[in-house]
Amino acid sequence: MDKLLIRGGRPLHGELRVSGAKNAALPILAATLLASRPVVVRNLPHLHDVTTMIELLGCLGVQVIVDERLGVEVDASTITNFQADYELVKTMRASILVLGPLVARFGEAHVSFPGGCAIGSRPVDLHLKGLEAMGARIEVEGGYIHAYSDGRLHGAHIVMETVTVGGTENLLMAAVLADGQTILDNAAREPEVVDLANCLIAMGADISGHGTDRIVVNGVSDLHSCEYAVMPDRIESGTYLVAAAATGGSIVLRGAAPDSMDAILQKLKETGAAIEIDGDTIRLDMQGRRPLPVNIKTAPYPGFPTDMQAQFTALNTIADGASSVVETVFENRLIQTHEMNRMGAKIKIEGNTAFIQGQASLTGAPVMASDLRASASLVIAGLVAQGETLVDRIYHIDRGYECIEERMQSLGADIRRVS
Ligand code: UD1
Repeated sequence: MDKLLIRGGRPLHGELRVSGAKNAALPILAATLLASRPVVVRNLPHLHDVTTMIELLGCLGVQVIVDERLGVEVDASTITNFQADYELVKTMRASILVLGPLVARFGEAHVSFPGGCAIGSRPVDLHLKGLEAMGARIEVEGGYIHAYSDGRLHGAHIVMETVTVGGTENLLMAAVLADGQTILDNAAREPEVVDLANCLIAMGADISGHGTDRIVVNGVSDLHSCEYAVMPDRIESGTYLVAAAATGGSIVLRGAAPDSMDAILQKLKETGAAIEIDGDTIRLDMQGRRPLPVNIKTAPYPGFPTDMQAQFTALNTIADGASSVVETVFENRLIQTHEMNRMGAKIKIEGNTAFIQGQASLTGAPVMASDLRASASLVIAGLVAQGETLVDRIYHIDRGYECIEERMQSLGADIRRVS
């Protein structure tokens, strides 16, 4: 199994181009199931999760063609079955995103029930309740969710109990082909939800209010072809910015979406980093200084993203002072702190809060990644630590970061993949 070997202690310096956003690419690929004509998706990141979603579309019988400009053309008219198997869903929970499109367009969907994962129980009850409110019949049997609709789904007023990104996306995709108006209240406002809505609009959907907590959808009978470029990845951007800040370095990110990163950029400024924004370019310079500690509390957008919590926790371990990190979105997302403590970090967990006493330095150690963002945080910890860190189970990191070791090397990091 591949591992990452890092010799820490070098500040990162350099320039990177930001990839397309994983969390926008996945729902957009699922949304191609709704169109009766081929849809071309551009700026897809080269990630395992994206390959898995393309594989899932292939298993449904959908034709997927990669064109000469690395765009992916998806033609859902060739679909032959409506089942997302356990084997795929267990490797990627986001497979649940085909549920809404399949039942809305074909009246039938069978998706393996995604289980919990390292960061929490992660139920999908709100996806199912919303589809039922739109007239779908849902049965759970043999580990699968079976959803049926006789004819078109119908519009409904749905108030979601919790802000859920995937739930909002599934119901939004189902609503675009439903008969009549759907109102999604307490909807997720994440930029990736907005990107999905914009793609659906480019396919002919009638949607307003995306980016607010009330999304209004007037169903249409058919969606057509379009060409759509996925937005830049704000979490990948944030991860490299934090890595540069934690090591006292400097970085220029090109092709970023700074407007989607207010909470992240604000916290980076609090660490003492000098930040300049110029269009889609973000420049960060830590000028060799040790970061100041920052208190974090995760929340749905526009609050601080849970997907950046672990990386900032890593930065706080070597910051000049004490900090607290409160995780409110997932119940078990502070697990990486135990591995950081093995590297000399001083982190105490009480409930959903990590209390961190910043240390002058960490020491390298063999550590184990437990989920995608936790692995990125262990890479950051390895980059700031003295000596060698070996990060195990990095298959998690390949799900969400394009060629992380090559990109880190281009910034001057001493990191390589070993088996
Ligand atoms: C998405 C992102 C993930 C990010 C998360 C929160 C993708 C592919 N993944 O995950 O990277 O960390 O948003 O920003 O976009 N919940 C329920 N019932 C439901 C659905 C969710 O109780 O039916 C709860 C979850 O357990 C969690 C909270 O709602 O506590 C937020 O989860 P949700 O926003 O749905 O996360 P995902 O869409 O799975």
